[in-house]
Amino acid sequence: MKILAINSSYRGNRGYTRFLIDKLFKGATKQGADCDFVTLSENKINVCIACNTCQTEKHYLKCIFDEKDDFKSIINKMADADIIIFATPVYLFGISGLMKIFIDRLHSTGDVNDLRVSKSGLIFHHINHNICSKPFVTLICCDNIEDETPKNIISYFRTYSKFMDAPQVGNLIRNAGTLTGHGKDPDKETKFPKIYDVYDAYKQAGQELVEYGEITDKTQKIANQEILPIPLFTIIKKIKPLKNKFIERTKEMQ
Ligand SMILES: Cc1cc2nc3c(=O)[nH]c(=O)nc-3n(C[C@H](O)[C@H](O)[C@H](O)COP(=O)(O)O)c2cc1C
Repeated sequence: MKILAINSSYRGNRGYTRFLIDKLFKGATKQGADCDFVTLSENKINVCIACNTCQTEKHYLKCIFDEKDDFKSIINKMADADIIIFATPVYLFGISGLMKIFIDRLHSTGDVNDLRVSKSGLIFHHINHNICSKPFVTLICCDNIEDETPKNIISYFRTYSKFMDAPQVGNLIRNAGTLTGHGKDPDKETKFPKIYDVYDAYKQAGQELVEYGEITDKTQKIANQEILPIPLFTIIKKIKPLKNKFIERTKEMQ
């Protein structure tokens, strides 16, 4: 099995997103997978300028930038992979600009004048299934602890999945992302012991992708758990009077 991670953090290999991809890859490699990643920040990817030359007969489904940047080589890798990891930090409540620039360029791989209906019954147009319809995992990394923070990204990839006929086979969401990785804080293990369960769950997720083609709900739950040592934090966030108390406490700390 080939797994390709597309990392859209501008911090590339120095970032938390990459750190978590590596954990997942550790598990997948152990199960015999061939894992590769693309660091978008190290590639040249021009912005789609909506010229629609790719929709003309002369330049059909070819982007004017095809020979001028790295987009084509990345989609060739996508075509070759069995599972894609779309990995993105949260930037101002959405996917990173790099990820959006990359995905926008998929426009050139589909014929927008050739009407089709997706498997979910949505009216769309022709797409290149070999590139756009790969099973995928979303790996979202953010600092904020509000459930609201990754919502736009979750929703974005749900929509991507429906229109692109691409099964979503996992959804990894890491809040308090700065607490993970890089050993900057030697006392982390004692202060945030759940981090290590999260790392194990990422490795397990990698193994499951190879074994079952998807990440189980159980593993996702462990990978996506709260790591701040606040008792019953998941419940506190969901029950309004408790959340209000938490908000009041935070206000006092301001
Ligand atoms: C431009 C920018 C915008 C950000 N916006 C948010 C945000 O809205 N919510 C949040 O929780 N974190 C936000 N962050 C923090 C990153 O999502 C977080 O640090 C993430 O772990 C970075 O991943 P990386 O280390 O792989 O780059 C932002 C960071 C940057 C640089």
